[in-house]
Amino acid sequence: MTERRNILVTSALPYANGAIHLGHLVEYIQTDIWVRFQKERGHECTYVCADDAHGTAIMLKAEQLGLTPEQQIAAVKQEHETDFAGFFVAFDNFHSTHSEENRVLSEMIYNRLLAKDKIARRTITQAYDPEKQLFLADRYIKGSCPRCKAEDQYGDNCEVCGATYAPTELIDAKSVLSGATPVAKESEHFFFKLPEFEDFLRHWTRAGHLQEEVANKLAEWLDTGLQEWDISRDAPYFGFEIPGEPGKFFYVWLDAPIGYIASFRHYCESPAGRARGLDWENYWRKDSDTEVYHFIGKDIVNFHALFWPAILACADLRTPTQVCVHGFLTVNGKKMSKSRGTFINARTYLDHLDPEYLRYYFAAKLTGGVDDLDLNLDDFVQRVNADLVGKVVNIASRTAKFVAKHGGVLAPAPADETLWQGFTERGDTIAAHYENRDFSKAMREIMALADAANEYIAAQAPWTLAKQPGNEQQVLDICSLGINMFRALMTYLKPVLPQMAAKAEAFLGETLSWAEPVAYRGGVAINKFEPLLQRVDKDKVEAMVADSREETAQAAAASQATVSSAGAGASSTEKSGTGESGTRESSAKKPSADESAAEGPAIAEPIAPEIGIDDFTKVDLRVARIIKADTVTGADKLLKLTLDLGGETRSVFSGIKGAYKPQDLEGRLTVMVANLKARKMKFGVSQGMVLAAGPGGKEIYLLDPDAGAQPGMRVM
Ligand code: MSP
Ligand code: ZN
Repeated sequence: MTERRNILVTSALPYANGAIHLGHLVEYIQTDIWVRFQKERGHECTYVCADDAHGTAIMLKAEQLGLTPEQQIAAVKQEHETDFAGFFVAFDNFHSTHSEENRVLSEMIYNRLLAKDKIARRTITQAYDPEKQLFLADRYIKGSCPRCKAEDQYGDNCEVCGATYAPTELIDAKSVLSGATPVAKESEHFFFKLPEFEDFLRHWTRAGHLQEEVANKLAEWLDTGLQEWDISRDAPYFGFEIPGEPGKFFYVWLDAPIGYIASFRHYCESPAGRARGLDWENYWRKDSDTEVYHFIGKDIVNFHALFWPAILACADLRTPTQVCVHGFLTVNGKKMSKSRGTFINARTYLDHLDPEYLRYYFAAKLTGGVDDLDLNLDDFVQRVNADLVGKVVNIASRTAKFVAKHGGVLAPAPADETLWQGFTERGDTIAAHYENRDFSKAMREIMALADAANEYIAAQAPWTLAKQPGNEQQVLDICSLGINMFRALMTYLKPVLPQMAAKAEAFLGETLSWAEPVAYRGGVAINKFEPLLQRVDKDKVEAMVADSREETAQAAAASQATVSSAGAGASSTEKSGTGESGTRESSAKKPSADESAAEGPAIAEPIAPEIGIDDFTKVDLRVARIIKADTVTGADKLLKLTLDLGGETRSVFSGIKGAYKPQDLEGRLTVMVANLKARKMKFGVSQGMVLAAGPGGKEIYLLDPDAGAQPGMRVM
């Protein structure tokens, strides 16, 4: 083994206002595999993370839920930790940016920037919500596009014509939070003098800390010119107050990366960290010989590869060894979609499927690059079954019983020295792929070895040999090599499949270690073989998708009931539309207000799981005549429909305003669900639902019975 390295690894800190989903897990699984690999190889490696707990979005989310921000972030932290544990993401420490360590470190770093005269103060004018008494980030302002006049556009760009503009240019701008018209208001802000670090950054970004494609992207940003970075926010804000500046808070993105150091410090000062002799200052001092790796998604590169190194350097701290950037997750070739049921939360996945399937699938697809990664659900089933069950587990299940039958003790030496050598020697190549985060190549190497093992076993056919007396030793030799090849494979797969490896260890009666090249093990007894992994069941994948779609429907119903409340349009991230100084980020993750409605045609939706006729007849569908259609004050998507059911009338609120003018609806027939439980909404009670197809917005198509149908007729 080479020298023992001291490595600190981080994943980006998830926001404390939402659930962990499969997109996030690309990153946490990638990082966890890399960390487990380093630990396996005998290095001193520590993996820390935290919840990113500050910012306006979290403050508003808490308010919407009737909680204090502290209560809200505590609840989310629990959920996040449970989800991560469910996927075997094994942080050494999971902390929070809303912690004493982080306050102290943020103040320390800020004071160092200040002492070096790298903080500027300037009065700026911003949109302000006079009702909510809050400065409004661009994404909290909506209005009509100044160019194409499309309604309902966010404060910085138009999704219809692509124009970018300042929120002040929006026609009839409104605060998303209160509906009030924003006013311009002045306030003093604090800026980090980023442009003074241009030379440093030009050098740093080319000094081997970044993937080349990332460095190239940053060069473009550097060429367009850096701007001072606005690091303060005005009260009310959930964050740390700036020392000596009442009413001014650190912008969430200032203290978030400092949270990496804070989490590590918290760990170093805990009994577990002390037992390992870890010293946070030793890792973070300027000339440290330790290594620091940040794993992040491509949407937050500027924060990690420009602002962060500049701030660290300015504060006389070390900069990262490497910022490792990955791409985004797509599902079935498309952006994760709520309406298609492919926006899958960690919890929903775990309700149906084994976490190691996903760990393996991601490993099989991850390269060291920034390309997006596709989770194709059919391929997922096929790949996991073929590789893990069909190849790896198969080696052990085919040979274990013969070893057991022949005394249960492995033969002392490999039956085929050359074959075994290959298994030992490939270890270094596989390790190099892991080190470079090219897990897909590592998995390919491992599966090639598995193929070789299976071919050997098939060619030797111990099951045939075993039928003739006198072949006992030969059968034992072959199968002992089989078990050893399986040992080697499980050792190489252990970073990806910790649970399966633990089961294999119980079976083999040893702890698999990769600190040294894997040596043949003979003359020892093995235990009873127990199944290591079940095949992926396609039905469970479908059930997971159906559940995900269902959750969305419920969430949509809940948010329709609170159409103009804070959470509806502004739930997701603090970073979209920084709209501020510094470089612009990629728009990879900009949340759209009605994600569920903005997707392609309904045809793209997979068919829901099968139901019986009894299930269907529970739904009482009736022909209905729309006798009246009214707009609803305060609701931009709803129409209030009065429906005649042949003697009975019903009031239904329907989200079809984007597609129909009220006067065009009056008098026509359609189909409704007549026995749907009445639902109390903000604007009144909705007594049923009309049937329509289409993704939403302008593309909604009401059902229309053929001529002759009468109101009240049942539809079967
Ligand atoms: N809070 C910030 C990070 C602060 S780090 C000092 C943040 N949080 S996040 O919850 O939005 O994202 C956390 C990580 O998950 C980011 O690295 C992000 O790129 C990654 N991903 C979020 N959605 C993703 C996909 N759909 N696909 C792949 N990674 C994704 O950003
Ligand atoms: Zn426009």
